[in-house]
Amino acid sequence: MCGIVGINSFENVVPRIMDGLSRLEYRGYDSAGIATIDHGQFQVRRAVGKLQSLRDLLQHHPVQGNVGIAHTRWATHGVPNQTNAHPHSNEYVAVVHNGIIENHAELRAGLQQKGYVFNSQTDTEVVVHLFTDYLKQGKTPLECLQSLLGDIVGAFALAIILRQFPDLMLVARKGSPLVIGIGKDEMYIGSDALALSDWTNQVIYLEDGDYAELTAKSYQIYDVAHQAISRPIKVVEFKADAVAKGSYAHFMQKEIFEQPMVIGKTLQQYVDSEALATKLSTTADWMAAPKLSIVACGTSYYAGMVAKYWFETYAKISVEVDIASEFRYRDPVFLEEGITLVISQSGETIDTLMALTLAAEKGQQTVAIVNVPESSIARTAQDVLLTYAGPEIGVASTKAFTAQLTVLANLVIYAAKQRGHLTQSQEKALVTELMTAPGLVMTALQTETDIHQVALVLEKAQDVLFLGRGTNFPVALEGALKLKEISYIHAEGYAAGELKHGPIALIDNTVPVVVNIPATDVWFEKTLSNVQEVAARGAKTICLTDAKGQKALEANHIDSLVLKMPTCSSFVAPIVYAVPMQLLAYHTAVLRGTDVDQPRNLAKSVTVE
Ligand code: F6R
Repeated sequence: MCGIVGINSFENVVPRIMDGLSRLEYRGYDSAGIATIDHGQFQVRRAVGKLQSLRDLLQHHPVQGNVGIAHTRWATHGVPNQTNAHPHSNEYVAVVHNGIIENHAELRAGLQQKGYVFNSQTDTEVVVHLFTDYLKQGKTPLECLQSLLGDIVGAFALAIILRQFPDLMLVARKGSPLVIGIGKDEMYIGSDALALSDWTNQVIYLEDGDYAELTAKSYQIYDVAHQAISRPIKVVEFKADAVAKGSYAHFMQKEIFEQPMVIGKTLQQYVDSEALATKLSTTADWMAAPKLSIVACGTSYYAGMVAKYWFETYAKISVEVDIASEFRYRDPVFLEEGITLVISQSGETIDTLMALTLAAEKGQQTVAIVNVPESSIARTAQDVLLTYAGPEIGVASTKAFTAQLTVLANLVIYAAKQRGHLTQSQEKALVTELMTAPGLVMTALQTETDIHQVALVLEKAQDVLFLGRGTNFPVALEGALKLKEISYIHAEGYAAGELKHGPIALIDNTVPVVVNIPATDVWFEKTLSNVQEVAARGAKTICLTDAKGQKALEANHIDSLVLKMPTCSSFVAPIVYAVPMQLLAYHTAVLRGTDVDQPRNLAKSVTVE
């Protein structure tokens, strides 16, 4: 949610800042801007829309400077226009900000009384004037920052440059991520280490409450108690192709096709393929836990929903699955020794992070499944289980979902063993099934041509229903979410058995119904009846099923488009069936000409509530 990048150097930083910003565009693309100091003056350029608009502006009105900060915005306060675009500046200070300053209205009123004039509707502009006010009181830049941090409430990552101190850059973080990169005679800052990947692999992840003063050659970090502190320098490895589309048309398509590799890599970490046992373990005590609360948002929440079925079946533990933004503001009942499991690709989703913090405060054992090892969630949870999906750039989550399911499947096996509900031979059977997942996903990807045909049907629809039962119900929800977010077609996922309790009223021959119906499911016959019910009411059905399922459809004279899936055990089916859901959304969106990797109104990492 908003990306920040900055460089302090002895050379012109503008071309590189623009490259860094392009690696952060997934965080927001409502507007973009850059500020530098050139010959003692601020040079600020801001443009509405994607980064390309800023590039075009820079072509006609170039800037340069040895110190610069830049921003790509996902609008919170104020519409996406040029005035609200960052950096915000006056003649003393230029600021970029990611997050929300909650007490901005009150601060703004106080500053206006002092005569400060606001140009934008943003919360960020208060930082500019507050900082200026402290400068005018004769404070040093560091003292100004310290005073400012005492005034503002909320979540923020801030980068500040000062016209009268052109060698300096100031940064601070609370709630929103910020890293410092160390170069040779240069220092970098970014919302994500990925932004700095071309310049350095040495990064420092600031802790919550940290702030720092940077020159081109040095940095000093201070903690929340204003003590100078040294934080560890981490060496991060980025593969150049991880952030490039290669021969694919979109990042989303590339990431969909990476799934056999990603699932395989994740399995390598968690499965002993010789002993056919899981290698995963946690410090959380599953034997003692009376209840498991799974908390996440969006796609990660649907992964949690799949896991609920698994945990109940195999580990015999009572499970609640919650949307993080609801969980954190309800009064959830925490039982002694209960486990809270959070799931997040980015590891920065604020609602999930706050839910985790709440659970930890309430004495729960906490486990996090995350894709970004140095993320806030990874640093907060008691146990961290990484998904090995690599950077996910497409805004719609794909490979992270199947990687999450792969980790969850291992966690279920581990928990079931701990709780004494899984024998060694049962574990071997489940692990053997899991190990077939990369190959099955590879086969599922081969349905792409057929999927394109189905996309030709969906493309014309105004509404689409997705149905499934058991673990395939959350996969149906995920299919609907993917379709709406990238094709902008209205779609809903339903538990197939729930249809006749209301939604069946929507059915007519204009509403395609996509059904996940593997014949290996215990619910197969029941779902088949539901397919007949909607087909009888004129719906165009699209069934995702295996050879046996296809025969059953034919035997029952159900006229349905079929997307033929490989035969797979019901345990791995949600991992495999998620893939055609993603491809269906992808091809429908491409046909409709939407911006697949950067759909409207969305951003990748949701660091505001
Ligand atoms: C959907 C999507 C979102 C995220 C959600 C949680 O394609 O990407 O629904 O799943 O914002 O994000 P993370 O997993 O980063 O916490």
